[in-house]
Amino acid sequence: MPDPYLDPDSKTQEAIEAMASRLEARGNHKTFLRMVENYGKTLPSNEPLTVLDLGCGTGIVIRQLAKMLDPSSKFYGADISAKLLGEAAKFSENDEIQWDHISTGSLPYADGTFDVIVMHTLLSHVPDPLAILAEAQRVLKKGGKLIVFDADHVSTTYNQADYETTRRIDSMLASAITIHPDICRQLPKLFKSSGYAITDHSVDIISECGKGDFWLSSVHAFAKLMPTIEALSEDEADKWLEYMLQSHEDGTFFASGTYYTFYAKSLL
Ligand SMILES: C[S@@+](CC[C@H](N)C(=O)[O-])C[C@H]1O[C@@H](n2cnc3c(N)ncnc32)[C@H](O)[C@@H]1O
Repeated sequence: MPDPYLDPDSKTQEAIEAMASRLEARGNHKTFLRMVENYGKTLPSNEPLTVLDLGCGTGIVIRQLAKMLDPSSKFYGADISAKLLGEAAKFSENDEIQWDHISTGSLPYADGTFDVIVMHTLLSHVPDPLAILAEAQRVLKKGGKLIVFDADHVSTTYNQADYETTRRIDSMLASAITIHPDICRQLPKLFKSSGYAITDHSVDIISECGKGDFWLSSVHAFAKLMPTIEALSEDEADKWLEYMLQSHEDGTFFASGTYYTFYAKSLL
């Protein structure tokens, strides 16, 4: 079951638009904006920085950082998907961000270019996260800051009528939408092997009990996506959606997930 973000440009225009609107809806949700704002606040806002958002998708993160940081900073958004970058350029209000279409492998930047690199829900979607970290390390300045934000997909849960169904669908979703649903648990080891020291980390547990909001938007998106990638049958996806909507209506909704932000500095 291929991760849809592994090679977005091989998907139909309809799928690209669905991914783009999903990334924008998620990224503009107050819960997500707060998490980006929290790591943005750890960066100095009164000195010019050179900042790369690697795997920027529609550019939601770099657009927000551009609003928070010194305006004479240089902002780059890089992605393997020309189609998602096309969407990013549409959402961009001005040309303060440089959008770079890159290939997997080496990055088109000189050694030591960036003060800061952000990877926001990238590493759970790439086949070789260690190679990405090592290449990012090359283009970071010595002592430069890497911020990696990702979901601990293996702990995301959407409660159903019985635990067996909950567990089966949670596990199906985790492996259908990512290559590495446990990336957060692997990151300390991966940082160590690629020349970084972890300087800090923070954890956000997003739980909704009674009514759904943030997670309800994922429920709608995944109920559509899962049958198209044959992760769930139409019937299973409909029943799953129906239970989540019903529990939201009657005030018994429960869904929860954990996001980690890692702060690391380049040692090389
Ligand atoms: C889940 S999306 C996240 C997009 C954006 N960071 C956000 O949070 O809205 C993952 C993105 O990583 C991109 N991607 C996948 N493999 C990549 C690679 N090797 N290098 C750069 N980007 C990659 C995909 O095209 C997609 O835009």
